[in-house]
Amino acid sequence: MNHKEVIQEVFKKISDIKDEGKLASYIPELANIDATKFGVHISTTSSLKHGLGNFQEKFSIQSISKVLSLCFAYKILGEAIWDRLGVEPSGTAFNSLVQLENDNGIPRNPFINAGAIVISDILISNLSNPKEDLLAFIRSLSGNNDINYSAKIAASEKSVGYRNIALCNFIKSFGNIKNEPTKVLDFYFDLCSLELSCEHLSDLFLFLANNGKAPHNNNQILTKSQSKRINALMQTCGFYDESGEFAFKVGLAGKSGVGGGIIAILPNQYSIAVWSPKLNEKGNSYKGMNFLENFTTLSEQSIF
Ligand code: DON
Repeated sequence: MNHKEVIQEVFKKISDIKDEGKLASYIPELANIDATKFGVHISTTSSLKHGLGNFQEKFSIQSISKVLSLCFAYKILGEAIWDRLGVEPSGTAFNSLVQLENDNGIPRNPFINAGAIVISDILISNLSNPKEDLLAFIRSLSGNNDINYSAKIAASEKSVGYRNIALCNFIKSFGNIKNEPTKVLDFYFDLCSLELSCEHLSDLFLFLANNGKAPHNNNQILTKSQSKRINALMQTCGFYDESGEFAFKVGLAGKSGVGGGIIAILPNQYSIAVWSPKLNEKGNSYKGMNFLENFTTLSEQSIF
C-alpha cells in the first residue's frame, strides 16, 4: 500500500471512532472550536501531497510553534542555546512549574512552556523585530506568505495566562530570562497563536524530513546534524508526559499542540499533519494520536 492509500483507509477508520477527548477550555477561544473538525495532510520528500477532511482549514497550532521558534534560535546561535535549557524529557505536564526550583530555572527541554519561554527570551535578545523576523523565517520554510498570528487567540490566552506569567517570572528570578517578562510573554503568546492548515503545516515541516533543507527552494535551513537533533527532541519530548507512549505506539518524531494539531516526521520520507480538536488527558489530540498509531501500523514504516 502506498502513503495515499494508507491515509485514506486510516482516515475512514478514525472518522468512525468515538472521540473520547475534551476541548482545551483553559484558553477561552479554543473552547469555541467545532469539535468535529478532522483533517490530515501528508507531504513527502518524493513530492507526494495528499490531504483529507478539513485539511485546508486553518487552526491554532499552539505548541507546535515551539519547534519553529527553537529552529530559528538554533539557526541563529547554534549550540550556545543549550547553556540556557536542557534536552531531557521532563515527564511532567507542559505547563508544570515543579522542576524549575531544583533545576535553578533551567527548563528541562525547549518544548515545555518553560523552555519555549526561554527560547522566546533568546530570540528577543537577538532580533531587531522579533515577531516580524520570526514570521518571515516561518514563511520562508515553505514559501507560504499566508501565515499569521491570531490577535484574538493571543488576547484570549493572555487574559488567563497566569501559569505562563508565573513561569516567566520564576525563571527570571534565577536570572535565566534577560528581558522584561511582559515583553517575553507578549512574544510567547503570539508565537502560540499562529494559525495554519494541515496542508501548510506538513509542507513547512518537510525540511525536517529532508536533512534540514527546504524542498521548495533547496535552502539549507538547519545543518544535517541540527535537523537530526530537532527530530530527536521531538521524539523524546514532543508529547510531554506522553512522549514515551507516542514513541511506543507511533514511532515517529512529533509535536502536539492544545489546538488539537500534531505534526510528525519520518526522516527521509515524509511530514504528516493531523488536526482533531478534542484532547486526551495529557493534552494531546485524541483522534490525532489514534490516527498516527494506525498510520504507522498499516504502512509498516516508522523510525524503528
Ligand atoms: O502556553 C500554553 O499553555 C499554550 N499556549 C500552549 C500549550 C500547548 O499547546 C501544549 N501542547 N500540547
